[in-house]
Amino acid sequence: MSKPNNLEPLWMPFTPNKAFKKDPRIIVGAKDMHFISDDNRQILDGTAGLWCVNAGHGRKKIQEAVTKQIEELDYSPPFQFGHPKQFELANRLTEIFPEGMGHVFLSNSGSEAVDSALKIALAYQRSRGHAAKTRLIGRERGYHGVGFGGISVGGMVKNRMYFGTMLAGVDHLRHTHNLELNAFSKGQPQHGADLANDLERLVQLHDASTIAAVIVEPVAGSTGVLPPPVGYLQRLRELCTKHDILLIFDEVISAFGRLGKSTASDYFGVIPDMITCAKGLTNATIPMGATVVQDFIYESMMEHSDAPIELFHGYTYSGHPVACAAALATLDIYKEEGLFENAAKQSPVIEEAAHSLKGTKNVIDIRNMGLIAAIEMAPSSAGVGVRGFQVMKKAWDMGLMVRANGDTLAFSPPLIVKENHIDEMFTKVKQAIEQVD
Ligand SMILES: Cc1ncc(COP(=O)(O)O)c(C=O)c1O
Repeated sequence: MSKPNNLEPLWMPFTPNKAFKKDPRIIVGAKDMHFISDDNRQILDGTAGLWCVNAGHGRKKIQEAVTKQIEELDYSPPFQFGHPKQFELANRLTEIFPEGMGHVFLSNSGSEAVDSALKIALAYQRSRGHAAKTRLIGRERGYHGVGFGGISVGGMVKNRMYFGTMLAGVDHLRHTHNLELNAFSKGQPQHGADLANDLERLVQLHDASTIAAVIVEPVAGSTGVLPPPVGYLQRLRELCTKHDILLIFDEVISAFGRLGKSTASDYFGVIPDMITCAKGLTNATIPMGATVVQDFIYESMMEHSDAPIELFHGYTYSGHPVACAAALATLDIYKEEGLFENAAKQSPVIEEAAHSLKGTKNVIDIRNMGLIAAIEMAPSSAGVGVRGFQVMKKAWDMGLMVRANGDTLAFSPPLIVKENHIDEMFTKVKQAIEQVD
Protein backbone atom coordinates (compact mmCIF):
# COMPACT_ATOMS: atom_id res chain seq x y z
CA MET A 1 0.00 0.00 0.00
CA SER A 2 1.34 3.44 -0.80
CA LYS A 3 2.09 5.74 2.06
CA PRO A 4 1.52 9.36 1.04
CA ASN A 5 3.93 11.85 2.53
CA ASN A 6 6.29 9.12 3.64
CA LEU A 7 9.79 10.16 2.59
CA GLU A 8 11.38 6.89 3.65
CA PRO A 9 11.16 4.60 0.57
CA LEU A 10 13.05 6.93 -1.75
CA TRP A 11 16.82 6.50 -1.72
CA MET A 12 17.99 9.98 -2.68
CA PRO A 13 21.12 10.49 -4.80
CA PHE A 14 24.19 12.33 -3.50
CA THR A 15 22.18 13.29 -0.39
CA PRO A 16 22.60 12.53 3.31
CA ASN A 17 19.29 10.61 3.39
CA LYS A 18 18.88 10.37 7.16
CA ALA A 19 19.51 14.07 7.74
CA PHE A 20 17.35 15.14 4.78
CA LYS A 21 14.35 13.09 5.87
CA LYS A 22 14.47 14.68 9.33
CA ASP A 23 14.72 18.18 7.91
CA PRO A 24 13.60 18.10 4.24
CA ARG A 25 13.83 20.85 1.67
CA ILE A 26 10.95 20.28 -0.74
CA ILE A 27 10.49 22.17 -4.00
CA VAL A 28 6.99 22.24 -5.50
CA GLY A 29 7.23 24.78 -8.31
CA ALA A 30 9.52 27.01 -10.35
CA LYS A 31 9.26 30.04 -12.62
CA ASP A 32 12.02 32.06 -14.31
CA MET A 33 14.68 32.79 -11.65
CA HIS A 34 12.84 31.23 -8.71
CA PHE A 35 11.89 27.94 -7.11
CA ILE A 36 8.82 27.72 -4.87
CA SER A 37 9.18 25.70 -1.68
CA ASP A 38 6.39 23.61 -0.09
CA ASP A 39 5.94 26.35 2.52
CA ASN A 40 5.25 28.69 -0.38
CA ARG A 41 8.47 30.69 -0.29
CA GLN A 42 10.22 32.10 -3.35
CA ILE A 43 13.78 30.73 -3.50
CA LEU A 44 16.18 32.58 -5.82
CA ASP A 45 17.88 29.99 -8.04
CA GLY A 46 21.58 30.81 -7.79
CA THR A 47 22.57 27.51 -9.42
CA ALA A 48 20.29 27.01 -12.46
CA GLY A 49 19.12 23.91 -10.62
CA LEU A 50 22.20 21.78 -11.03
CA TRP A 51 24.02 23.91 -13.61
CA CYS A 52 21.32 23.01 -16.13
CA VAL A 53 18.26 25.32 -16.30
CA ASN A 54 20.14 27.87 -18.39
CA ALA A 55 17.06 29.56 -19.89
CA GLY A 56 15.29 29.85 -16.53
CA HIS A 57 12.35 27.84 -15.28
CA GLY A 58 8.93 27.08 -16.72
CA ARG A 59 9.64 28.05 -20.31
CA LYS A 60 6.39 27.97 -22.31
CA LYS A 61 8.08 27.37 -25.65
CA ILE A 62 9.69 24.18 -24.35
CA GLN A 63 6.45 23.02 -22.72
CA GLU A 64 4.58 23.49 -25.98
CA ALA A 65 7.23 21.72 -28.04
CA VAL A 66 7.24 18.78 -25.64
CA THR A 67 3.43 18.50 -25.55
CA LYS A 68 3.19 18.66 -29.33
CA GLN A 69 5.90 16.03 -29.74
CA ILE A 70 4.19 13.59 -27.36
CA GLU A 71 1.00 13.96 -29.37
CA GLU A 72 2.76 13.52 -32.71
CA LEU A 73 5.39 10.84 -31.99
CA ASP A 74 5.95 9.77 -28.40
CA TYR A 75 8.78 7.34 -29.13
CA SER A 76 10.55 5.58 -31.94
CA PRO A 77 13.40 3.09 -31.67
CA PRO A 78 16.80 4.66 -32.30
CA PHE A 79 18.49 1.47 -33.51
CA GLN A 80 17.91 0.92 -37.25
CA PHE A 81 15.18 3.61 -37.43
CA GLY A 82 15.23 7.38 -37.41
CA HIS A 83 12.88 10.29 -36.79
CA PRO A 84 13.33 13.77 -38.26
CA LYS A 85 14.02 15.73 -35.09
CA GLN A 86 17.15 13.83 -34.09
CA PHE A 87 18.78 14.69 -37.44
CA GLU A 88 17.59 18.29 -37.15
CA LEU A 89 19.08 18.51 -33.66
CA ALA A 90 22.43 17.06 -34.77
CA ASN A 91 22.54 19.66 -37.56
CA ARG A 92 21.71 22.47 -35.18
CA LEU A 93 24.39 21.38 -32.71
CA THR A 94 27.10 21.19 -35.35
CA GLU A 95 26.23 24.78 -36.30
CA ILE A 96 27.04 26.10 -32.82
CA PHE A 97 29.91 23.75 -31.92
CA PRO A 98 33.47 24.39 -33.17
CA GLU A 99 34.28 23.93 -36.82
CA GLY A 100 35.11 20.39 -37.82
CA MET A 101 32.97 18.91 -35.05
CA GLY A 102 30.36 17.71 -37.48
CA HIS A 103 28.99 14.56 -35.85
CA VAL A 104 26.81 14.00 -32.80
CA PHE A 105 26.06 10.88 -30.75
CA LEU A 106 22.98 11.29 -28.54
CA SER A 107 22.43 9.87 -25.05
CA ASN A 108 20.49 10.77 -21.89
CA SER A 109 22.84 12.38 -19.41
CA GLY A 110 26.29 13.78 -18.85
CA SER A 111 27.48 10.45 -17.48
CA GLU A 112 26.34 8.67 -20.62
CA ALA A 113 27.85 11.35 -22.87
CA VAL A 114 31.17 10.75 -21.10
CA ASP A 115 30.99 6.96 -21.30
CA SER A 116 30.09 7.29 -24.98
CA ALA A 117 33.12 9.55 -25.57
CA LEU A 118 35.48 7.14 -23.82
CA LYS A 119 34.12 4.19 -25.79
CA ILE A 120 34.30 6.11 -29.07
CA ALA A 121 37.93 7.00 -28.28
CA LEU A 122 38.83 3.33 -27.82
CA ALA A 123 36.86 2.14 -30.84
CA TYR A 124 38.35 4.92 -33.00
CA GLN A 125 41.93 4.05 -32.05
CA ARG A 126 41.24 0.40 -32.86
CA SER A 127 39.55 1.30 -36.16
CA ARG A 128 42.69 2.98 -37.45
CA GLY A 129 44.97 0.16 -36.43
CA HIS A 130 46.13 1.49 -33.05
CA ALA A 131 44.49 -1.17 -30.93
CA ALA A 132 47.17 -0.82 -28.22
CA LYS A 133 46.04 2.74 -27.53
CA THR A 134 43.68 1.84 -24.70
CA ARG A 135 44.81 3.93 -21.76
CA LEU A 136 42.52 6.79 -20.63
CA ILE A 137 43.86 9.82 -18.79
CA GLY A 138 41.72 11.97 -16.50
CA ARG A 139 42.68 14.57 -13.91
CA GLU A 140 42.66 14.69 -10.14
CA ARG A 141 39.54 16.44 -8.84
CA GLY A 142 37.81 15.89 -12.20
CA TYR A 143 34.10 15.08 -12.30
CA HIS A 144 32.80 13.13 -15.27
CA GLY A 145 29.57 11.72 -13.90
CA VAL A 146 28.95 8.44 -12.18
CA GLY A 147 29.30 5.66 -14.76
CA PHE A 148 32.25 3.31 -14.22
CA GLY A 149 34.07 5.07 -17.08
CA GLY A 150 33.35 8.49 -15.63
CA ILE A 151 34.43 7.65 -12.08
CA SER A 152 37.56 5.93 -13.37
CA VAL A 153 38.80 9.02 -15.21
CA GLY A 154 37.27 11.27 -12.56
CA GLY A 155 39.33 12.37 -9.61
CA MET A 156 37.03 13.02 -6.66
CA VAL A 157 37.94 10.58 -3.95
CA LYS A 158 34.50 9.91 -2.45
CA ASN A 159 33.09 9.17 -5.91
CA ARG A 160 35.76 6.49 -6.37
CA MET A 161 36.74 4.97 -3.02
CA TYR A 162 33.55 2.94 -2.47
CA PHE A 163 33.46 1.34 -5.90
CA GLY A 164 36.33 -1.07 -6.18
CA THR A 165 39.02 -0.93 -8.79
CA MET A 166 36.94 0.60 -11.61
CA LEU A 167 38.43 0.59 -15.15
CA ALA A 168 41.95 -0.70 -15.55
CA GLY A 169 44.57 1.31 -17.40
CA VAL A 170 43.57 4.77 -16.26
CA ASP A 171 45.93 7.46 -14.99
CA HIS A 172 45.49 11.07 -13.87
CA LEU A 173 47.07 14.45 -14.45
CA ARG A 174 47.54 16.55 -11.34
CA HIS A 175 44.82 19.10 -10.60
CA THR A 176 45.44 22.82 -11.01
CA HIS A 177 44.11 24.19 -7.71
CA ASN A 178 46.78 26.21 -5.90
CA LEU A 179 45.69 28.46 -3.06
CA GLU A 180 49.22 29.61 -2.29
CA LEU A 181 49.84 31.08 -5.73
CA ASN A 182 46.38 31.79 -7.11
CA ALA A 183 43.97 32.66 -4.26
CA PHE A 184 41.43 35.36 -5.13
CA SER A 185 42.30 35.34 -8.85
CA LYS A 186 39.72 37.02 -11.03
CA GLY A 187 38.97 34.77 -13.99
CA GLN A 188 41.80 32.50 -15.07
CA PRO A 189 44.61 32.13 -12.51
CA GLN A 190 48.08 33.17 -13.69
CA HIS A 191 50.01 30.20 -12.32
CA GLY A 192 49.83 26.57 -13.35
CA ALA A 193 50.02 26.28 -17.17
CA ASP A 194 53.06 24.04 -16.64
CA LEU A 195 50.83 21.46 -14.92
CA ALA A 196 49.70 20.44 -18.41
CA ASN A 197 53.24 19.07 -18.81
CA ASP A 198 52.13 16.29 -16.51
CA LEU A 199 50.98 14.63 -19.69
CA GLU A 200 54.65 14.38 -20.72
CA ARG A 201 55.30 12.61 -17.42
CA LEU A 202 52.53 10.10 -18.14
CA VAL A 203 53.81 9.61 -21.69
CA GLN A 204 57.27 8.88 -20.24
CA LEU A 205 55.68 6.36 -17.91
CA HIS A 206 53.25 4.59 -20.24
CA ASP A 207 54.33 5.59 -23.77
CA ALA A 208 51.99 7.46 -26.10
CA SER A 209 51.39 4.28 -28.10
CA THR A 210 49.27 3.02 -25.18
CA ILE A 211 47.24 6.21 -24.57
CA ALA A 212 43.89 6.67 -26.32
CA ALA A 213 42.58 9.92 -24.85
CA VAL A 214 42.78 12.62 -22.22
CA ILE A 215 39.58 13.96 -20.71
CA VAL A 216 39.29 17.18 -18.69
CA GLU A 217 36.64 19.73 -17.85
CA PRO A 218 37.80 23.03 -19.37
CA VAL A 219 36.47 24.65 -16.18
CA ALA A 220 36.16 22.07 -13.41
CA GLY A 221 32.75 22.55 -11.78
CA SER A 222 31.64 19.94 -9.30
CA THR A 223 34.99 19.83 -7.55
CA GLY A 224 34.42 23.42 -6.45
CA VAL A 225 34.97 25.53 -9.59
CA LEU A 226 38.55 25.55 -10.87
CA PRO A 227 39.09 27.82 -13.88
CA PRO A 228 42.06 26.69 -16.00
CA PRO A 229 45.34 28.57 -15.49
CA VAL A 230 46.25 30.92 -18.35
CA GLY A 231 47.78 28.82 -21.15
CA TYR A 232 46.96 25.43 -19.56
CA LEU A 233 44.37 24.23 -22.07
CA GLN A 234 46.47 25.44 -25.02
CA ARG A 235 49.45 23.46 -23.70
CA LEU A 236 47.33 20.35 -23.18
CA ARG A 237 46.07 20.65 -26.75
CA GLU A 238 49.66 20.94 -28.07
CA LEU A 239 50.79 17.89 -26.16
CA CYS A 240 47.83 15.76 -27.23
CA THR A 241 48.49 16.66 -30.86
CA LYS A 242 52.21 16.01 -30.47
CA HIS A 243 51.60 12.54 -29.02
CA ASP A 244 48.62 11.59 -31.20
CA ILE A 245 46.27 11.39 -28.19
CA LEU A 246 42.61 12.42 -28.43
CA LEU A 247 41.59 15.39 -26.29
CA ILE A 248 38.07 15.29 -24.84
CA PHE A 249 36.56 18.35 -23.20
CA ASP A 250 33.78 17.48 -20.80
CA GLU A 251 31.50 20.49 -21.26
CA VAL A 252 28.49 19.15 -19.40
CA ILE A 253 28.37 22.38 -17.38
CA SER A 254 30.25 24.76 -19.64
CA ALA A 255 28.41 24.26 -22.95
CA PHE A 256 25.33 26.33 -23.82
CA GLY A 257 26.36 29.76 -22.69
CA ARG A 258 27.83 29.30 -19.23
CA LEU A 259 30.93 31.28 -20.29
CA GLY A 260 29.04 33.56 -22.67
CA LYS A 261 29.71 31.38 -25.74
CA SER A 262 28.19 28.17 -27.10
CA THR A 263 31.11 26.22 -25.69
CA ALA A 264 34.11 26.71 -23.44
CA SER A 265 36.21 25.50 -26.37
CA ASP A 266 35.03 28.54 -28.31
CA TYR A 267 35.60 30.80 -25.30
CA PHE A 268 39.19 29.63 -24.75
CA GLY A 269 39.95 29.19 -28.45
CA VAL A 270 41.08 25.60 -27.89
CA ILE A 271 39.43 22.95 -30.03
CA PRO A 272 39.35 19.41 -28.64
CA ASP A 273 38.61 16.22 -30.57
CA MET A 274 35.39 15.50 -28.72
CA ILE A 275 33.01 17.51 -26.54
CA THR A 276 30.55 15.98 -24.11
CA CYS A 277 27.49 17.97 -23.12
CA ALA A 278 24.07 17.55 -21.47
CA LYS A 279 22.23 19.74 -18.91
CA GLY A 280 21.64 23.05 -20.75
CA LEU A 281 21.04 21.13 -23.98
CA THR A 282 17.34 20.76 -23.10
CA ASN A 283 17.24 23.37 -20.34
CA ALA A 284 16.98 20.23 -18.14
CA THR A 285 13.32 19.82 -19.02
CA ILE A 286 13.89 16.34 -20.45
CA PRO A 287 17.13 14.41 -19.81
CA MET A 288 19.56 14.36 -22.73
CA GLY A 289 23.29 14.12 -23.36
CA ALA A 290 25.42 14.45 -26.48
CA THR A 291 28.94 13.56 -27.56
CA VAL A 292 30.08 15.79 -30.40
CA VAL A 293 33.08 14.57 -32.38
CA GLN A 294 35.53 15.76 -34.98
CA ASP A 295 34.71 14.55 -38.47
CA PHE A 296 37.93 12.55 -38.74
CA ILE A 297 36.81 10.33 -35.86
CA TYR A 298 33.45 9.55 -37.43
CA GLU A 299 34.96 9.11 -40.88
CA SER A 300 37.61 6.72 -39.61
CA MET A 301 34.96 4.62 -37.92
CA MET A 302 32.81 4.57 -41.07
CA GLU A 303 35.71 3.70 -43.30
CA HIS A 304 37.56 1.13 -41.26
CA SER A 305 34.88 -0.61 -39.25
CA ASP A 306 35.01 -4.38 -39.52
CA ALA A 307 31.21 -4.77 -39.08
CA PRO A 308 28.12 -3.26 -40.72
CA ILE A 309 27.23 -1.59 -37.41
CA GLU A 310 30.24 0.68 -37.04
CA LEU A 311 29.79 1.40 -33.32
CA PHE A 312 28.30 -1.20 -31.02
CA HIS A 313 26.91 1.31 -28.58
CA GLY A 314 23.62 3.10 -27.97
CA TYR A 315 20.72 3.63 -25.56
CA THR A 316 17.01 2.84 -25.80
CA TYR A 317 16.45 6.57 -25.41
CA SER A 318 19.27 7.87 -27.66
CA GLY A 319 17.75 10.82 -29.51
CA HIS A 320 14.37 10.41 -27.79
CA PRO A 321 11.87 12.46 -29.83
CA VAL A 322 10.56 14.34 -26.80
CA ALA A 323 14.08 15.24 -25.65
CA CYS A 324 14.93 16.35 -29.20
CA ALA A 325 11.85 18.59 -29.26
CA ALA A 326 12.87 20.10 -25.91
CA ALA A 327 16.44 20.63 -27.14
CA LEU A 328 15.37 22.33 -30.38
CA ALA A 329 13.04 24.68 -28.50
CA THR A 330 15.81 25.41 -25.98
CA LEU A 331 18.32 26.26 -28.73
CA ASP A 332 15.71 28.60 -30.25
CA ILE A 333 15.29 30.38 -26.92
CA TYR A 334 19.05 30.81 -26.46
CA LYS A 335 19.28 32.39 -29.90
CA GLU A 336 16.10 34.50 -29.88
CA GLU A 337 16.75 35.95 -26.44
CA GLY A 338 20.53 36.35 -26.84
CA LEU A 339 21.09 34.45 -23.61
CA PHE A 340 24.74 33.60 -24.24
CA GLU A 341 25.32 37.32 -24.80
CA ASN A 342 23.52 38.11 -21.56
CA ALA A 343 25.76 35.63 -19.75
CA ALA A 344 28.78 37.46 -21.18
CA LYS A 345 27.31 40.79 -20.10
CA GLN A 346 26.67 39.60 -16.56
CA SER A 347 30.09 37.97 -16.16
CA PRO A 348 31.86 41.10 -14.88
CA VAL A 349 28.88 41.81 -12.59
CA ILE A 350 29.08 38.39 -10.93
CA GLU A 351 32.87 38.69 -10.75
CA GLU A 352 32.67 41.95 -8.86
CA ALA A 353 29.85 40.81 -6.58
CA ALA A 354 31.64 37.56 -5.69
CA HIS A 355 34.99 39.19 -5.02
CA SER A 356 33.34 41.80 -2.79
CA LEU A 357 33.11 38.96 -0.21
CA LYS A 358 36.89 38.92 0.22
CA GLY A 359 37.55 39.41 3.92
CA THR A 360 34.28 37.76 4.99
CA LYS A 361 34.63 35.35 7.91
CA ASN A 362 36.21 31.97 6.96
CA VAL A 363 36.51 32.83 3.25
CA ILE A 364 39.89 31.62 1.91
CA ASP A 365 39.40 31.97 -1.83
CA ILE A 366 37.00 33.38 -4.42
CA ARG A 367 37.04 32.19 -8.03
CA ASN A 368 34.99 33.11 -11.08
CA MET A 369 34.73 32.45 -14.80
CA GLY A 370 31.90 33.54 -17.11
CA LEU A 371 28.63 33.15 -15.25
CA ILE A 372 30.18 30.99 -12.54
CA ALA A 373 31.44 32.08 -9.15
CA ALA A 374 32.71 30.16 -6.15
CA ILE A 375 33.50 31.04 -2.58
CA GLU A 376 35.79 28.65 -0.76
CA MET A 377 35.64 28.58 3.03
CA ALA A 378 38.11 26.96 5.40
CA PRO A 379 36.75 23.65 6.73
CA SER A 380 35.40 23.84 10.28
CA SER A 381 36.76 21.73 13.14
CA ALA A 382 33.68 19.49 12.67
CA GLY A 383 35.14 18.21 9.36
CA VAL A 384 35.40 18.94 5.67
CA GLY A 385 32.09 19.97 4.10
CA VAL A 386 30.23 20.64 7.34
CA ARG A 387 30.50 24.41 7.06
CA GLY A 388 29.54 24.36 3.38
CA PHE A 389 26.46 22.27 4.14
CA GLN A 390 25.41 24.59 6.98
CA VAL A 391 25.74 27.71 4.84
CA MET A 392 23.74 26.05 2.05
CA LYS A 393 20.94 25.27 4.54
CA LYS A 394 21.02 28.75 6.03
CA ALA A 395 20.82 30.27 2.54
CA TRP A 396 17.81 28.06 1.74
CA ASP A 397 16.10 29.38 4.87
CA MET A 398 16.86 32.90 3.63
CA GLY A 399 15.37 32.20 0.18
CA LEU A 400 18.50 31.42 -1.85
CA MET A 401 19.67 28.24 -3.53
CA VAL A 402 23.43 27.87 -3.55
CA ARG A 403 25.39 24.68 -4.17
CA ALA A 404 27.91 23.45 -1.62
CA ASN A 405 30.74 21.30 -2.98
CA GLY A 406 32.57 20.47 0.22
CA ASP A 407 33.27 23.88 1.72
CA THR A 408 33.09 25.68 -1.60
CA LEU A 409 29.85 27.49 -2.43
CA ALA A 410 29.17 27.56 -6.15
CA PHE A 411 26.94 29.94 -8.10
CA SER A 412 25.86 29.29 -11.68
CA PRO A 413 22.56 31.14 -12.14
CA PRO A 414 20.28 30.81 -15.18
CA LEU A 415 21.55 32.92 -18.08
CA ILE A 416 18.47 35.17 -17.80
CA VAL A 417 19.94 36.56 -14.55
CA LYS A 418 19.88 40.32 -13.96
CA GLU A 419 21.99 42.63 -11.79
CA ASN A 420 19.41 42.71 -8.97
CA HIS A 421 19.46 38.90 -8.72
CA ILE A 422 23.25 38.85 -8.51
CA ASP A 423 23.13 41.51 -5.82
CA GLU A 424 20.60 39.49 -3.84
CA MET A 425 22.63 36.27 -4.23
CA PHE A 426 25.78 37.72 -2.74
CA THR A 427 24.08 39.83 -0.08
CA LYS A 428 22.28 36.76 1.20
CA VAL A 429 25.20 34.38 0.99
CA LYS A 430 27.39 36.83 2.90
CA GLN A 431 24.79 36.95 5.68
CA ALA A 432 24.54 33.16 5.67
CA ILE A 433 28.34 32.76 5.90
CA GLU A 434 28.48 35.24 8.76
CA GLN A 435 25.80 33.36 10.71
CA VAL A 436 27.56 30.00 10.56
CA ASP A 437 30.47 29.16 12.90
C1 LIG B 1 31.58 17.91 -16.09
C2 LIG B 1 30.49 16.94 -15.82
N1 LIG B 1 30.46 15.77 -16.47
C3 LIG B 1 29.48 14.86 -16.28
C4 LIG B 1 28.45 15.12 -15.40
C5 LIG B 1 27.40 14.09 -15.19
O1 LIG B 1 26.20 14.48 -15.71
P1 LIG B 1 24.85 13.70 -15.30
O2 LIG B 1 24.62 13.97 -13.85
O3 LIG B 1 23.83 14.27 -16.23
O4 LIG B 1 25.09 12.25 -15.56
C6 LIG B 1 28.42 16.33 -14.72
C7 LIG B 1 27.34 16.64 -13.77
O5 LIG B 1 27.38 17.56 -13.01
C8 LIG B 1 29.47 17.26 -14.91
O6 LIG B 1 29.50 18.43 -14.25
